[in-house]
Amino acid sequence: MSAPSDPAPRNGDPPAQVPSSVAIIMDGNGRWARKRSLARVAGHRVGTQTVDRVTEACARWGVSHLTLYAFSTENWQRPKTEVSLLWQLLIRDLQRRGPKCVKNGIRLTTVGRRDRMPARAVREIERVERETAECDRMTLCLALDYGGTWDFVEMAERIRRLEREGVLGEEPLDAESLARHLPSGNVPPVDLLIRTGGESRVSNFLPWQLSYAELLFVPKLWPEFDEQDLAEAFHSYARKHRRFGTIDEEPDPSAAAPVEVVQPTVEGGQG
Ligand code: FPP
Repeated sequence: MSAPSDPAPRNGDPPAQVPSSVAIIMDGNGRWARKRSLARVAGHRVGTQTVDRVTEACARWGVSHLTLYAFSTENWQRPKTEVSLLWQLLIRDLQRRGPKCVKNGIRLTTVGRRDRMPARAVREIERVERETAECDRMTLCLALDYGGTWDFVEMAERIRRLEREGVLGEEPLDAESLARHLPSGNVPPVDLLIRTGGESRVSNFLPWQLSYAELLFVPKLWPEFDEQDLAEAFHSYARKHRRFGTIDEEPDPSAAAPVEVVQPTVEGGQG
C-alpha cells in the first residue's frame, strides 16, 4: 500500500469508512527540525501538536483504538541529551493530556517497559490512566519504551514463571492463551498502520497486532501531518479489500473437477 493517489474530498466531512484500530509510527521530527536549523527536540515538541490533532480527529471520526509509537526500546541509543529531553517532553505532555483526554472521552493507556523510564514518567502514566479509566469514546495507547522483540521475550518469561510456580500446567498453548501473557495483549489487531517520514518499515512496532494490518507509508514528516492527511489515509484504507488469507465467496466452477497435485521440485523454490 502506498500513499493514496485519489485524495479524500476537502470538505471537512468525516471519512466514509474508518478503521477501528489505528497505529502510527510518528517519524520525521528530527528532519523537520534540522531543515529549519533547529534542535531535534524542537521537532518532537511540534510533534506533540500533531498528536493532539490526530488524536482528536480519530476520536471524532469513530476510531476505537489509536496506538502511537512515542519511544522505542531502541531509542535509548540516541544521544543522552535527546533521550533526556524527550522524556521531559513526554512527562510534561502526560501532565497536560489528562484533562484533555477526560474532556474528549479518551481513555489513556500505555504499552511498554516501565522499569527503565524516569520514575516521574511512571507516576504520570499511572495518574492519567486512573483519571481516564472511565472514558469510553476511544482508547489512546502510547507505546513507551516499547519493542516487539521485548514484547515476545516478556511473554515467554511470564509463561515460564507461571509454569515454575505451578499456575500454568501442561495445557496446550494457542494464540488466544499466548496473547493473555503478551504485555501488549490489550492492544487489538491493527487495521491500519500509518508511518510518516517516508521510510517503509515497521521498526519493531506491534508485530503481533500488525499481522493483517494495511500498511500506509507517507512521505510527510510527522510535524506536518494534518487532519486532511489522516482523512486521505482513511479514504485509501476504505478502498482496500481485506481477505485475511481467505478467498472471495464466488463459486469456483473448476472446484468440481479433480485436480492433479504437482509436487514442487527441489529447484522450484518459493518464487
Ligand atoms: C521519530 O522521529 C520520533 C520519535 C522517536 C519520538 C516521537 C515523539 C513525539 C511525536 C513527541 C511526543 C509524543 C507524544 C505521544 C506526546 P525521529 O526523531 O526519528 O525523526 P527523524 O527520522 O527525522 O530523525
